[in-house]
Amino acid sequence: MAYSTTKHWQVARFILIFTILASACQNQESSQTEKSDNTVKLKAQTNIKQQEFGNMPDGTTAMLYTLRNGQGMEVKITNYGGTITHWTAPDKEGKYEDVVLGFDSLSAYLTSSPYLGCIIGRYGNRIAKGKFTLEGQTYTLAVNNGENHLHGGIKGFDKVLWEATPLDGEEPALKLTYLSKDGEEGYPGNLQVEVTYRLQKDNALRIDYQATTDKTTVVNLTNHTYFNLLGHTEGDILGHELMLNASTFLPVDRTMIPTGELRAVKGTVFDFTQSTPIGAGINDTKDEQIRFGMGYDHSWVLNPPTEKEELNLVGKVLEPKSGRVLEVFTTEPAVQFYTGNFLNGNIIGKRGVAYKQRYGFCLETQHYPDSPNQKNFPSTVLKPNETYQTSTLYRFSVNSSTAK
Ligand code: GLA
Repeated sequence: MAYSTTKHWQVARFILIFTILASACQNQESSQTEKSDNTVKLKAQTNIKQQEFGNMPDGTTAMLYTLRNGQGMEVKITNYGGTITHWTAPDKEGKYEDVVLGFDSLSAYLTSSPYLGCIIGRYGNRIAKGKFTLEGQTYTLAVNNGENHLHGGIKGFDKVLWEATPLDGEEPALKLTYLSKDGEEGYPGNLQVEVTYRLQKDNALRIDYQATTDKTTVVNLTNHTYFNLLGHTEGDILGHELMLNASTFLPVDRTMIPTGELRAVKGTVFDFTQSTPIGAGINDTKDEQIRFGMGYDHSWVLNPPTEKEELNLVGKVLEPKSGRVLEVFTTEPAVQFYTGNFLNGNIIGKRGVAYKQRYGFCLETQHYPDSPNQKNFPSTVLKPNETYQTSTLYRFSVNSSTAK
């Protein structure tokens, strides 16, 4: 009896010592992986890393995630606003350049961002006078653009901290989730939103949007990245050549609300059915629509896909000096093409660059502006038990035959 008790204790002591040693080794190993500099490499992950980006006014920390693919393309995204801050793409000589407008610090995004790179929600673009009626009830939204509601209101999805989950792999991804509470900015329903950015092997970034609600509401999500395929430090985008897969666009009134007309682009400066320099007609102030938008700031209605493809072609942009090409595909029916008309040099971006008018262009895939008030536009209503689901893909490549 005495003998077996002693043996029992010896075994127990052995197990205890072994467990302590094993856990000490493990701790040491994990702290080695996690503490190198302020760049924290996730354990056993190679294509995504995270670092602190800065503190929010309430003291919580925003993170910055770097997604990298095998070709060397890098996309940096912060969970503040789900914002793409940096994105490198190769030119025809293989030289990588940062091709999106953005800031180096969180504080700049907090104070002065004209929606650079962020997720827009709950409703992309304008809702007239911040009002709409749904199932017999009229809702009043925050008004933040003259008399209208723009990009989700005063504190839209671009100004909140999202919950982030990095997903490593050959095609690294970042899953972002956010609960927009019932009544936020005036919208009905608790809206649970999920946005996933995935950097593909083929130099494409795919964005999948998903949302569910507990009360009937409206949803129209997009991303507001400003591209400059020459590099964000290199001036205006007027020499970029644009093709849009759209035969009609939506004219607006002087407050930028669609009139309800679908106007043919043929014979107007809105015709990008053939590749055309963005600068060719942008200053044609004889055109009232150019005057209203101070350039291009309109929704183009995409031609329906010819085959049953998952994603429809939105358009293609070629920057002739660098040979960089950007192609865009989406499940959405329209794209807001905006040419940075409101940038005025007051905003100092990455590397101290003052972003002036037309230093970037946006291709914001979405439903039409003001759809909640326009019965003839495709519906943006989301009901409980339905799932909002859209996808957009931005793919970079090069055209090596272009002149240097
Ligand atoms: C969208 C709008 C523009 C402007 C920009 C951001 O493209 O249509 O009017 O608000 O976003 O400045």
